[in-house]
Amino acid sequence: MPPKTMVKPDYPRIRVAPPGPKARGIIAQDREWSSPSYIKAYPLAMAGGKGAMVEDVDGNRYIDFMAGIAVSSTGYNHPKVVSAVVEAAGRFLHICGTDFYYDGMSRLCERLGKLAPGKEKSRVFLTNSGAEAVEGAVKLARYHTRKPHLISFQGAFHGRTYAAISLTASKVKYRAGFGPLLPEVTHLPYDNPYRGGDAVRAAKEAFESRLPAKDVAAVFMEPVLGEGGYVIPDSKFVRFWREFCDEHGALLVFDEIQSGVGRTGKWWACEHHGVEPDILLSAKGLGSGMPIGAIVAKEDVMTWPRGTHGSTFGGNPVACAAALATLDVVESEGLANARLMGDRLLQGLRKLQDRHACIGDVRGRGLMIGVEFVKDRTTKEPDPQLVEDLEQRAFRKGLLLLTAGKSAIRIAPPLVLTGYDVDTGLSILDECLTELKKRRPL
Ligand SMILES: Cc1ncc(COP(=O)(O)O)c(C=O)c1O
Repeated sequence: MPPKTMVKPDYPRIRVAPPGPKARGIIAQDREWSSPSYIKAYPLAMAGGKGAMVEDVDGNRYIDFMAGIAVSSTGYNHPKVVSAVVEAAGRFLHICGTDFYYDGMSRLCERLGKLAPGKEKSRVFLTNSGAEAVEGAVKLARYHTRKPHLISFQGAFHGRTYAAISLTASKVKYRAGFGPLLPEVTHLPYDNPYRGGDAVRAAKEAFESRLPAKDVAAVFMEPVLGEGGYVIPDSKFVRFWREFCDEHGALLVFDEIQSGVGRTGKWWACEHHGVEPDILLSAKGLGSGMPIGAIVAKEDVMTWPRGTHGSTFGGNPVACAAALATLDVVESEGLANARLMGDRLLQGLRKLQDRHACIGDVRGRGLMIGVEFVKDRTTKEPDPQLVEDLEQRAFRKGLLLLTAGKSAIRIAPPLVLTGYDVDTGLSILDECLTELKKRRPL
């Protein structure tokens, strides 16, 4: 066969400095009418996308290293996902899975139950979002164990509903002014190999001095810290908590809302640690952007009886179709590509680290990669201003980034991104860092 001629992609391309005139119109209307609590990282007004390319309303095109916060796992309009959504929408939009049956819901429950780590049978409850999955898991853990106390970790992010913000400890603004929050929550240190500290010893001290281990219903852990900075803990730390739960009759809940569904090159990030949870939470990338989440629990843990928990929209038939198609695409192309492109990104980022002293640490699994920026490599003092400037500058050059933690960039592109996307994104990053070193104005 003759070799295929490669047509060079026509992105990134900046036709008009963003925000262009059409984007400015949308932004002005949004600012007038939408809740002031929205963040709006930078003035991107989206018009369309394909794979890991995003186009704005003024015709600018960007390489996407953030996937709408780790959501657009199969890219922006994967034909298999789109046709599954269209087909399901053409049949019926809703019937309420809490009360009635349909084949998309039962198939998705079976599929997720079988994908859950471990040999034991699992059962699945479908939600609309990550926070709803966290909320349900808190209820299930207390219901099943009949114990009150919950443990989560400093730097953790579990969402924005009451149980979820009570477990969250990544930024004070998520909690300030919203109290009282859920009682009986303790935040303990998360293991951070780059920054050091002994998180296991801190936990042991807490159990010796103030926290009765027998009262703990559940330990909520992100197997890779997401919003808190894309930190990969040592597997010993994760194993410590598995052993703690086994010893004290608590449940280990892995929040894989950001790290799951192939993002790390395995179905679930916990597989890298070789540790199984009692309850696994999924959302974000599960529906490629359609709102769907899941509580996947061992059968002997999901003991709440009929009528005790439900959701009007959770497991919506169109969202279930998107999730089933997403799982197919992740299985056939996403997992392998996440490993391949993840390695390419890590290698490229480590080369950038050799050239730019502001990069303190590069860490990642598959396409969940954190790049931590510091003022000084010896003191490891975070440099949040640099990260903020980098995010803004990269956007104006056609690369979409998002920050995480105090001073990291989280790289979580669609799992289908290409070698071209990786290499071009890295060269924009390089250019930005070189300019920022000289502090050239935008
Ligand atoms: C680890 C983790 N848990 C929970 C959530 C909350 O998910 P949602 O925004 O869908 O409620 C997020 C969202 O960023 C997350 O990253």
